[in-house]
Parts: sequence; structure tokens; C-alpha cells
Amino acid sequence: MTVLKRPVIVVNFKTYIEASGPKAIALAKTCESVAGDTGVPIAVAPPMADLASVAQAVKIPVLSQHMDDVKPGSTTGHIPLESVVGCGAVGTLLNHSERRMRIADIGSLVGRCKESGLSTIICTNDIGVTRACASLEPDFVAIEPPELIGGDVSVTTANPAIVKDSVDVARKVCPNVGVLCGAGVKNGVDVAKAAELGTDGVLLASGVAKASDQRKVLLDLASGLGK
Ligand code: G3P
Repeated sequence: MTVLKRPVIVVNFKTYIEASGPKAIALAKTCESVAGDTGVPIAVAPPMADLASVAQAVKIPVLSQHMDDVKPGSTTGHIPLESVVGCGAVGTLLNHSERRMRIADIGSLVGRCKESGLSTIICTNDIGVTRACASLEPDFVAIEPPELIGGDVSVTTANPAIVKDSVDVARKVCPNVGVLCGAGVKNGVDVAKAAELGTDGVLLASGVAKASDQRKVLLDLASGLGK
């Protein structure tokens, strides 16, 4: 059973310097404070090196940015599910555009995460991949056209059709799956548009991580969910 509410704003810190080390903890606390003040659920995916320290510092959901379908032991440099659980994370992103995975590994990990009570968000890049990933019955799929990631134009403006079609396709395959969208999302208008297109929230990174006033941006994003 997922601990991620719907709608939700998921902030991926990637490996931005502005969101790493002590700054990862500070940003996670800001997300927690904004979630508390606005009532809008916010989850965070800090850099892997900061996963445990961030999970200890906040009570909002903390997600791993990735997981490998391996067992703990002789798997140097990998990220086993057991390590993610040990860090205190409650779920994971899978198949992020910057960390693509094999479908067999994604399917295996969705099953293992379910057994361990971890939430899963599978990132997708087009409608076909959204369909395939939704059929694995994760908690969420997140449509993110790679060419728009890190840019200034939100997917909800540049390609609203891919968002709406992803919602339709995902729900047809798996009626209970949550659908997020991301890439270029920067403000409350983008979040409101995402909701209007039928999603359960957004997955974003640079708009928050690189903002000069991260709290102000988070408050604006939360306003898009109308709370
Ligand atoms: O995981 C979120 C992401 O890939 C979108 O990045 O910087 O366009 O919000 P960004």
C-alpha cells in the first residue's frame, strides 16, 4: 500500500549541488514545511548519497532516485532494495530518463517493492512506454519527454497531448495507477494545468533545486493544486 497521497508534488533533487549534502536536508525540510503549511502532499527524492540523512531529517515521504534489481552482497556500486529500506526511504523512482532500466528489471522491482511495502514511480518517455509500464501495476507512472527535461517550457504547455494520452492509456491498462507528469514544470500554473489534464500531480527538479528562493517556488507550485 503506497504512502504517497494523490495528488502529490514529487521533487527530484537529482544531483544538483544546490540540493546535495547539507543543502539536501535543508531543501527537504523546506518541502516538509510547505507541505505542512499548505496541506499539499510533497515527496522528495534526494541524491543517493544523502538518502539516509534526509530520511532521518523529515517526516514527508522520501524516495530513492533509483534501485537495481540485485541482492545485497557482491554487487559493488549497486543500489539493492534492502539498502533503500535501510536508509528509511518509503519508495523509489524507477527508469528515470537519466537512469534508464530494462523492462524485466523494472517488472521484477515493482513486485519486490510491493512485497516490501515500498511505493513505485516508473518514469516513461512516450505513450508506448507508459502503456508497458502501467501494465506492471506500479503505484505511479510519470510521463517525462526527455527533450523537455531541464528546460523552461513545461510539458503541460509544450505537449499537453502526451500528458492527456498518457493518463488515458495508463488508466485503461491499470485503472488504479497514479499518473504524474514532468519536464520543465516551474510554477503553480503548470501544476494546475497538469491536474486539468487528469494527472495526480507532478514530478519536477530544476524549477525547485535551482531556484534562488526554493520556498517561494514550492508555495507557488502548491497553489496550483488549489489548497
Ligand atoms: O525527475 C524530474 C525531471 O526529470 C524533470 O526535470 O528539471 O525539467 O523539472 P525538470
